[in-house]
Amino acid sequence: MGKRISLFGLGHVGQALLRSLHRARGGAHLVLAADGHGVYRGESLDPAAVLERRARRDYDAPRRPGDEEPLLLEARPDLHVELTPTNLETGLPAVRDLEVALALGVPVVTAAKSHQRSRETLAGILERAQGIPFLDHAATLAGIPATEMVAGVGMRLTRIEGVLNGTTNYILARLAEGVPFEAARDEAVARGFAERDWRYDLEGDDVAVKLVGLTRHLCGRPVLARDDVRREGAPELGIERGIVGATPELVARLAAEGKVLKLLGRVDIDGDSVRASVGPAVLDRRDSFAGIEGFTNAVRLEGTMNETRMELFLRGPGAGADETASRVLGNVNHLIEVLDWRESA
Ligand SMILES: NC(=O)c1ccc[n+]([C@@H]2O[C@H](COP(=O)([O-])OP(=O)(O)OC[C@H]3O[C@@H](n4cnc5c(N)ncnc54)[C@H](OP(=O)(O)O)[C@@H]3O)[C@@H](O)[C@H]2O)c1
Repeated sequence: MGKRISLFGLGHVGQALLRSLHRARGGAHLVLAADGHGVYRGESLDPAAVLERRARRDYDAPRRPGDEEPLLLEARPDLHVELTPTNLETGLPAVRDLEVALALGVPVVTAAKSHQRSRETLAGILERAQGIPFLDHAATLAGIPATEMVAGVGMRLTRIEGVLNGTTNYILARLAEGVPFEAARDEAVARGFAERDWRYDLEGDDVAVKLVGLTRHLCGRPVLARDDVRREGAPELGIERGIVGATPELVARLAAEGKVLKLLGRVDIDGDSVRASVGPAVLDRRDSFAGIEGFTNAVRLEGTMNETRMELFLRGPGAGADETASRVLGNVNHLIEVLDWRESA
């Protein structure tokens, strides 16, 4: 029998993962699945049956406060997948779940971003994860395997630049169509593209968290905390912070000059000095970032390998349930290979 998998979080990404879980390597199988309301338990749960019963809110048992530890103890998973909601204020429930799984020595794959809410929370999780595989790649850039790929490349990174937020792409596109900022913003919230607290996306907090994840994986250690990332505006363009204050008139004037407005995240790394910011950038229409639209994200990585300068430009889906689940499943399969290799060593 293959590896035993537990899964917390049966929302958009969790359901997308369940639909493809039969492709997990080596006969891996589900032994525990839970959302915020209830639990499914069994020696080999059928993902299709879980999906079908979850739609009816029909569970084996209801969730109880503090039950994450007894659930994981009983299920004895070989690896745990955490797909609960991101909460950057309290970190819950993901941080508690990760603490419990890691304390039990269970390797983790997660797409939730909550453990990156502060330097202290991240340090606590990474300390617990010493010696235990902890793959949180999918928390950064959804479907774009930027962190895994560059870990494989091995160059010394000097700069990261990226268009990393789909909501701001959407709003800037609406401004280009003449829709006023407040209307485009409210539309994005109503259609579920923006968080209800829209400042998270539009002032650059979301990009800041992504820069934290990117730099940690690409540099091999935490070099940046969320609060280290400067949130910039452009007073000369009437922009307070992020893209807040941009207008259809501004976007039209820039377009007439062959320019495009984007929210750009940037990190410069020079030895131990790391400077990070997120803010509005006026780009030439022919710039590689100028055509990054909708929920497509792109990141440019610059670095050196010995004396050779290298530049990578990656673009792909920065959001989406299937897209994120694809990355999660890739990480699950990688982890299964590592665990199998450890056992056979
Ligand atoms: N969607 C994307 O494009 C994307 C991209 C990158 C990263 N992510 C991250 O991936 C995670 C999942 O995203 P999503 O879009 O699937 O979110 P979602 O649709 O809001 O689903 C969250 C799921 O977590 C469950 N949950 C809540 N509290 C729980 C608890 N204590 N224990 C177990 N499950 C609990 C919810 O169950 P109830 O319905 O019972 O509350 C729901 O099933 C989030 O952290 C998100 O930030 C998402």
